[in-house]
Amino acid sequence: MRTTVGIIGAGPAGLLLARLLHNAGIDSVVLESRDRAYVEQRQRAGILEQGTVDVLRAVGAGERMDREGLRHDGIELRYAKKRHRVDFPALTGGRSVTVYAQTEVCKDLIALQLKEGGPLLFEAEALAVEGADTDSPSVRFRHEGREELLECDYVVGCDGSWGVARKAIPAELTRVFERTYPFGWLGILADVPPSHDELVYARHDRGFALLSMRPPVSRHHPSKEVASLPIESFVSRLYLQVPEGTDAEEWGDQEIWDELERRFETEDGWRLERGPITQKSVTPMRSYVQEPMRYGRLFLAGDAAHIVPPTGAKGLNLAVGDVVTFARALTYQQETGSAELLDAYSETCLRRVWQAERFSYDMTTLLHRAPDATPFEDRLQLARLERIASSRAAETDLAEGYTGFPLD
Ligand code: APR
Ligand code: PHB
Repeated sequence: MRTTVGIIGAGPAGLLLARLLHNAGIDSVVLESRDRAYVEQRQRAGILEQGTVDVLRAVGAGERMDREGLRHDGIELRYAKKRHRVDFPALTGGRSVTVYAQTEVCKDLIALQLKEGGPLLFEAEALAVEGADTDSPSVRFRHEGREELLECDYVVGCDGSWGVARKAIPAELTRVFERTYPFGWLGILADVPPSHDELVYARHDRGFALLSMRPPVSRHHPSKEVASLPIESFVSRLYLQVPEGTDAEEWGDQEIWDELERRFETEDGWRLERGPITQKSVTPMRSYVQEPMRYGRLFLAGDAAHIVPPTGAKGLNLAVGDVVTFARALTYQQETGSAELLDAYSETCLRRVWQAERFSYDMTTLLHRAPDATPFEDRLQLARLERIASSRAAETDLAEGYTGFPLD
């Protein structure tokens, strides 16, 4: 099998890249180790920056997002039983974010790819990238019980944090920057309308909590009608900071609601509505960057090159930035013969990646309670939150980071 761009992984990075290349008239093949149902069910974050929304629209993948996504103009910070709303458009010259789950983005891109794009092979596991430093790199993969070779001009590793692509970069040329956190998130989906119409990020002495939401599943409501559905028909997506290595099953439903209630408590009598929990899982927290993001004709994009803790909701948005940068660089190369933008790929992406790493780290350390936190550090956290609540400059910094750093 031969193609111009071999793409490993059908997460948001790989799928969007295939679409961008298709629209630019460049052929590609996507290899995905899992089956379609698995990829479409995987629960991930759900906040799209304005730049991500614009890109999805521009590639023709924005139709359902425009109908079902919810524009959010702010978030609430909650600490010491107080509430502070951060107004994004007022602080950023009109920017906002859209709540639309990553799984839905993937479903939309898969449907488009299968209808109009090049091959997208499920249950096709990449085993290794070969010849990355030559003009004809290839991907060895296993599909339908056979081992095959995908010969390419370029390979893009969009294979997430446990992928094989980055292993093809010699260790002596690689630097890894990493931080693990001694806690994770217990995430639940619950069949109850969200108790607030915007996301709530809560800092509490017992640990962090987050209130988010998802549109109702379309099987209950034909998607045409979703845009007109009131927020009361949405379901709740909630998270609790839990110790690293926690098993989701250790937590009973009642215990989860009790803990959420404590951490979201306010002095003004705000109430958290409870409902049946339909899904429960634990996500570990990690910051990770591998540099450089390119070796010869192998390029890394998305989680394959960098991971952020979910507190800033940046993972998907960073992946989008990488593949837009790659598609732009390759198109430029094909149109002008110049590899200038491809050569600058790693540096261009890393500038934005490190800003998102910084933002995600700041949000994480602002809101989570480390198991060994001292009273001094507790006070500092509260002082940082007070500063955001009382200084327009500090609040603007948060709003700019949350709504996203520019792609250029
Ligand atoms: N061969 C083929 N596919 C693979 C292989 C392999 N050897 N290893 C992993 N994959 C697939 C995974 O099954 C997954 O579908 O690569 C895909 C990687 O997708 P994601 O993990 O979603 O990563 P990415 O596309 O970079 O998306 C960015 O944003 O919200 C964050 O971490 C979250 O996934 C999210 C990320
Ligand atoms: C989510 O809705 O899943 C979500 C929202 C915001 C985050 C992380 C996850 O920071």
